[in-house]
Amino acid sequence: MSQLITTGFHHVTLVCRDARQTMRFYRDILGLTMVKVTVNFDRTDTYHLYFGNEAGAPGSLLTFFEWPAAMRGRYGVGGIHHVALGTRDDDTLLMWKRWLTDNGVRVTGPYDRGYFTSIYFTDPDGQVIEIATDGPGFQIDEPINALGRDLMVPPPSRFPEGRDEEAIRAKTWLEPIAAPVEAMRLHGIHHITGMTDDLDAAHDFYTRALGLNLVKMSLNQDDPDTKHYFWANYDGKTVRYGSDFTLFGWRPSSPKAREGVGQTHHVAWRANDEDELNVWREHLLGLGYNVTEVRDRKYFKSIYLRTHDGLLIEIATDPPGFRVDETELGAAVQLPPWLEEQRDEILAGLRPLV
Ligand SMILES: [Fe+2]
Ligand SMILES: [Fe+2]
Repeated sequence: MSQLITTGFHHVTLVCRDARQTMRFYRDILGLTMVKVTVNFDRTDTYHLYFGNEAGAPGSLLTFFEWPAAMRGRYGVGGIHHVALGTRDDDTLLMWKRWLTDNGVRVTGPYDRGYFTSIYFTDPDGQVIEIATDGPGFQIDEPINALGRDLMVPPPSRFPEGRDEEAIRAKTWLEPIAAPVEAMRLHGIHHITGMTDDLDAAHDFYTRALGLNLVKMSLNQDDPDTKHYFWANYDGKTVRYGSDFTLFGWRPSSPKAREGVGQTHHVAWRANDEDELNVWREHLLGLGYNVTEVRDRKYFKSIYLRTHDGLLIEIATDPPGFRVDETELGAAVQLPPWLEEQRDEILAGLRPLV
């Protein structure tokens, strides 16, 4: 069998404190579709919300566990620093800045990162979210058929000391935005960035275990003493959209991430179907990882493992998808068959979303 390569992100799961507040932010402000409303299968008095594009396609999905009484999480080694969502270009990025700012969200940027331009903000629980332009891409400083070969040092103008922060702060869309327009629609997960204290071990995991390739070795443009590596599904011709995972390389023994509200819980990668998921499982067991049995998540089947530094990774199948129990996505609270008998009781225990 040829080498297993994941096509990219399936979903990312984060932790929120209040499902209503999360819905207002991701649906009403960021304009995502509420793809599914269900409960945490292991704790049925709390919601599990799924947001994504209109089709609920893998690679567009952000899911949230509601943990009302949990402590705030903290990013660090083995955790995720931010989740980036894609937008068309510099114009739509500035439109997002204006719209978010006018809705009371504090935005930083736009920062020219070379490969894309980005703005940053936090969601109501403190999770850092980025919106990044689709282009220009990783081939601006290396040939497309030879990405990730050498360390690319960004020009001084992209580091904190060389930036004109005042000009960056002042940059925004001149007209108020009445509501997010079609051109602003977010394109799914552009990249996800975490932290490790062992880039070599991470390289081994993302290349040997997930089949990705290094597409850029650079420096963290907000912290030039730190390396910043990017991996993606890359065949020497194309970097597949929705597959770019990046890591800041922190010093050994740096603080570990702490699970909790406002932190990413896990990152899920795509498998084509259940047969391939079983092959993934054997492959990962063969590399010495401790992999769970296949679990039925109703909308996909999944396996789980942890990386060397503790990040929880899931591999999830594309099928059957979110239309298995409703044609209008997100229309009603959906429960798995084994909880249906307790539906009335479960619904009575949930705080209404609207
Ligand atoms: Fe980023
Ligand atoms: Fe998941």
